[in-house]
Amino acid sequence: MCGIVGYIGNNRADEILIEGLRKLEYRGYDSSGIALADAGKVKCIKTKGRIDVLAEKVGDGYADAVCGIGHTRWATHGEPSDRNSHPHTSCDGKVTLVHNGIIENYIKLKRELTEKGITFKSETDTECAVNLIAALYDGNPKDTLLRAMEMLTGSYAFAVIFSDHPYTLYAVKKDSPLILGVGEGENFIASDIPAILKWTRRYIVLNEGEIAEVKRDSIHIVDRHRNPINREIEHVEWNVGDAEKSGFPHFMLKEIFEQPSALKATISPRINNGKVNFSDEGLTAEIAERIETIHIVACGSALHTGIIGKTLIERLAGIPVDYEIASEFRYRDPIIKKNELVLLISQSGETADTLAALRLAKERGALTVAIVNVVGSSIAREADISLFTHAGPEIAVATTKAYSAQVAMMELLAIYFAQIKRTLPPERIAQLLNDLTSLPSQVENILPLYETSRELAEHISANAHVFFIGRGLDYCVAHEGSLKLKEISYIHSEAYAAGELKHGTISLVSTGTPVIAIATQRDVFDKMVSNIKEVKCRGAFVLLITRKGWYDESDSYADQVIELPEAESLFMPSLVAVICQILAYNTADIMGCDIDKPRNLAKSVTVE
Ligand code: AGP
Repeated sequence: MCGIVGYIGNNRADEILIEGLRKLEYRGYDSSGIALADAGKVKCIKTKGRIDVLAEKVGDGYADAVCGIGHTRWATHGEPSDRNSHPHTSCDGKVTLVHNGIIENYIKLKRELTEKGITFKSETDTECAVNLIAALYDGNPKDTLLRAMEMLTGSYAFAVIFSDHPYTLYAVKKDSPLILGVGEGENFIASDIPAILKWTRRYIVLNEGEIAEVKRDSIHIVDRHRNPINREIEHVEWNVGDAEKSGFPHFMLKEIFEQPSALKATISPRINNGKVNFSDEGLTAEIAERIETIHIVACGSALHTGIIGKTLIERLAGIPVDYEIASEFRYRDPIIKKNELVLLISQSGETADTLAALRLAKERGALTVAIVNVVGSSIAREADISLFTHAGPEIAVATTKAYSAQVAMMELLAIYFAQIKRTLPPERIAQLLNDLTSLPSQVENILPLYETSRELAEHISANAHVFFIGRGLDYCVAHEGSLKLKEISYIHSEAYAAGELKHGTISLVSTGTPVIAIATQRDVFDKMVSNIKEVKCRGAFVLLITRKGWYDESDSYADQVIELPEAESLFMPSLVAVICQILAYNTADIMGCDIDKPRNLAKSVTVE
């Protein structure tokens, strides 16, 4: 996720763009830049680092420019650096743009454009887009952009300058957000409202496939069929302080609601022509073929995704997988043999124990693959192969969208290894890919639970101890459910294998003890019901998370039931996790906890 701004008016564009980017830094902050259009020339100033570094570089030398675009980056392709920063200008200098999103067919485009003699300065997918637009440019910007949209696959919000069309900006929207700020004698383009709030509260939302031509005194929108669009102007009701959360009370809730787009951005680029493909990212079929054992090493929630990964990869691909806490792995003198893969999972890419485990694994001769959310982070740079989740910057300390994107990577890798090891028939692969592709919309469909689960959270908030129980994959995701509740509500909680409770821990269950029973796996459902009845008859308050139609009302062994929509059993943890996040959020909110910055915690634990 990145931040885009554009300005055309009568005031200093450099100041307005930089101020707007500061308000969008929560969308990405590893590098930034602006392009200023003045008298037919376009000047790009861009740099690695925070907005202050950019402001310093811009200085006071561009006071006359009244038109420009700006960008603050969350790297997805090409690590944070000056040359990978946006804006990007086409090889012929005619087109300059900034981009939020992922061009999924950039490798094919880059090959075709290179064959035409186009040279590239960066490693980014964005530079392919700007050179495609320039290659298609026939003097008519809107028409050119419409034709380019037919050739681009992926997600993109562009703000574009054509050097031969001064004092005019173009906005293009597909899958990434874009709004148009409406001022007096000036107009704006932005990824999000915070960037324009200082100058105007009036805005227009650009919809899918639309292009806008933005001048200081006019905005013209067309759809992908060139039909003119008259869109009503809306009015921002938020105060500036809340704006960076886009109206949400906390970053955590905003990030819970961003999960469908984070899942889509992580899954879609890796499914082509009915297959999962990690070859373009370095994990080629030849390498994957050789892997005989996988060791997953991580911390906290990242480790919890590895616990799910073990079940998925073993069940689909038949490869033995183990998982271990990084701080244990690094001091255990681990035995790592030839053809063994050490898979490190980390949102920040800076967790000290996980980084140390990576270095130890490399010393022992293992192939190291990292699943990371931050491009250019230490773990991403040092692993042999890095696979990126595209969850965008995660501000809340308690992870949600990055965790879900990591689980999606487990699901993708399990299918990928199954493809290569030929452990599943083609029709099963096709079915799994179809279910994985629909996961973002299934998550979208359970988000409204946020409103309806407040009462449930009231009950949980009144207790000092909570248990999450499950079997199989349900036990795997119970680990994350428990951690989410603990870390933001400070209520003690444990994830427990349902079949293990009676070996001691069940003595802790008394009248009213909340037990969150997760039962989404058909093969162990009946056993789960027995375990639930064991705690129920000892007074527990049972919240059952199960599949639609599985709960027998007449049996009444649960106090509250949350039913999940139909989905692939193996992908149920992706849905259950969202429910646990919402429960934890509502409980902590009711208790008045500091949800985005819980006590004692940090977003990235860079110390041992
Ligand atoms: C999860 O909500 C926590 N923020 C924490 O457990 C986190 O997952 C862990 O510290 C690992 O961080 P990483 O993914 O950045 O390596």
